[in-house]
Amino acid sequence: MRFLSIDTSCDETSVAVTNNLKVESNAISTQIRYHKKYGGVVPFLAQRLHKERIDKVIEVALKRADCSWDAIEAIAVTQGPGLAPALEVGIAKAKELSQARGLPLYGVNHMAGHMAACFARIGTKERPLPTYPLLALLVSGGHTELIRVMQWGRYERIGETLDDALGEAYDKVAKMLGLGYPGGAVIARLAETGDPDRFDLPVPMAKNASCDFSYSGLKTAVRYLRESLPENMDAQTVRDLAASFERVAQESILQKVERALKRNPDTGSLLLAGGVASNTALRRKLRRLAGEYGLTLFTPPNRKLCTDNAAMIGLAAFLDVQAGAQPSGAETLDRKPALVLG
Ligand code: KG4
Ligand code: ZN
Repeated sequence: MRFLSIDTSCDETSVAVTNNLKVESNAISTQIRYHKKYGGVVPFLAQRLHKERIDKVIEVALKRADCSWDAIEAIAVTQGPGLAPALEVGIAKAKELSQARGLPLYGVNHMAGHMAACFARIGTKERPLPTYPLLALLVSGGHTELIRVMQWGRYERIGETLDDALGEAYDKVAKMLGLGYPGGAVIARLAETGDPDRFDLPVPMAKNASCDFSYSGLKTAVRYLRESLPENMDAQTVRDLAASFERVAQESILQKVERALKRNPDTGSLLLAGGVASNTALRRKLRRLAGEYGLTLFTPPNRKLCTDNAAMIGLAAFLDVQAGAQPSGAETLDRKPALVLG
């Protein structure tokens, strides 16, 4: 089933063409440089830029997939979670296309989209599919969640952040260190050549018996540590700080995922998705942990499929249809900024 899919949930205008689980194109127009100077995403600026760009991005997605409208069988669009003014643009465009072309319209949960990216196929390469029940770790700028998936569409949230998301913590630490926004990837790169044991930081929620996360305490600990160091830190100290932060932030993830695996011994596959899934160190550590439990770790096959993109929305829509989802009427489909999984 060939979808044209749209995601405008945050600061990327993205349109893709997918055929079942195969990604045929995944066009992304990022707005990061416009939001950078504000240190975060400004919702109405995002809305204006989505409106200006969406038609062009649709054209690029079709062209890259070498696909005409005749070959498109359905439209999929992110319903939420996301920024309301931004979501609105994609939904309005999806309705317009669905009505003008007489195509069925499917509203998709953005977090299910992140998860679906782990099922993606690119080119002619065959990829094994995850085995249910899944344990999915979703880590992005707005979410940190552990979801148990009995079958596609049957979600149980078994852990979530009580405050900041993991990507948000990376971004805030990057800001404290004057590394710009969004700084997750910069921290990750600096951490590669830093000493992760130089600074002693507390592992969040280590004594808490739940599978929940918390990153605001760690963020505050990094702030105090930063204030105790000279104003002009040498480059190695910045790298050591980044590495020490990353070590404890990820140690917390490993502890909670291991706890969830122990509590759910029937888990068939471990999934890692969301923007922070592009972090190489986290992938490596989780792959090792999965191996210790006889499991395979599934991640999106490339970085573009980790951060926000529309291909994951087309893949999730296809999995939704396989699980029995019906199209939504164009009149009733509405944005759901606070939509949750499970
Ligand atoms: O999924 P995403 O594109 O947007 C949201 O839905 O939030 O995730 C963006 C987040 C940002 O917080 C960014 O700093 C973080 O993912 N990120 C990373 C890395 N690449 C992106 N965090 C840690 N390591 C990375 N390599
Ligand atoms: Zn996202």
